[in-house]
Amino acid sequence: MKLDMNSKYLKKFTSAANQVRNIISDIPDIAIIAGSGIAASFEKNKNTQTLNYNILENFPKTSVEGHHGEMLHYDFDGKNALVFSGRFHYYEGRTLSEICSIVALIHILGIKRLIITNAAGGLNPKFQVGDIMLFNDTIDFFFFKNYDSSFVPADTDYRCPVNRNNSSYQEQLEAELIRSGIPYQNGVYIGVTGPNYETRAEIRAFRRLGADAVGMSSVPELKAAKILGIETIGLSLITNTASEIMQEVTHDEVIIAARDSATKIKSIIKKAVNL
Ligand code: HPA
Repeated sequence: MKLDMNSKYLKKFTSAANQVRNIISDIPDIAIIAGSGIAASFEKNKNTQTLNYNILENFPKTSVEGHHGEMLHYDFDGKNALVFSGRFHYYEGRTLSEICSIVALIHILGIKRLIITNAAGGLNPKFQVGDIMLFNDTIDFFFFKNYDSSFVPADTDYRCPVNRNNSSYQEQLEAELIRSGIPYQNGVYIGVTGPNYETRAEIRAFRRLGADAVGMSSVPELKAAKILGIETIGLSLITNTASEIMQEVTHDEVIIAARDSATKIKSIIKKAVNL
């Protein structure tokens, strides 16, 4: 079934968008969703304008440690971008509408490019902790049955609404990374609900399904962005490998690993912003 975004749902973000415009007069054309631990790499300076999600009308508030819940108007040594430090997860009991709020807001703000980042477990045996994987494609294991008010079935067109995520934006970034000699991996991201990390059997199953990295976010946001015509790049920071997941990973370890390698992902984000 083809999906669309509910216009009533999108309208809910009009006042929040106006609040953002009142604080940030020159809205950049790129936004970034900073995942677990990655947000910490965006150090603020005196020129960084910040806006707490809590002040935004009809916008969810954040709760998980490592997710701050604020928007930064951030200077990437040339171009500015809006960094959303803190996202909304299914495992916190969020609805699909809440999870897609950031994407809906940036759409109302007229932003056309989005970089979605996350911490993920490496399933591909070639991946090491600290590697950055650009999404080639995704597998949606959220299995949202009830597309709440954010998504609506558009018609009975059975074409996949969010097929391959390879945007020309991503192609430009990959060309630039190759030119600059910045290493990266490519792969398939499987999005799961969590909150538990995977069992050994799940790791084996996900590998056989063709997934290279596993995480608990990003797929719903990517879907929403695709439907709204926003060009996206998905980036995973590999914070642990499948063999480590088998020995039981903790949320704290993931946050620490993400912080340790955050400069790497930041240099890739900087390239993507300044393309
Ligand atoms: N599994 C799921 N989500 C994750 C992982 C993992 O191993 N690491 C970081 N986020």
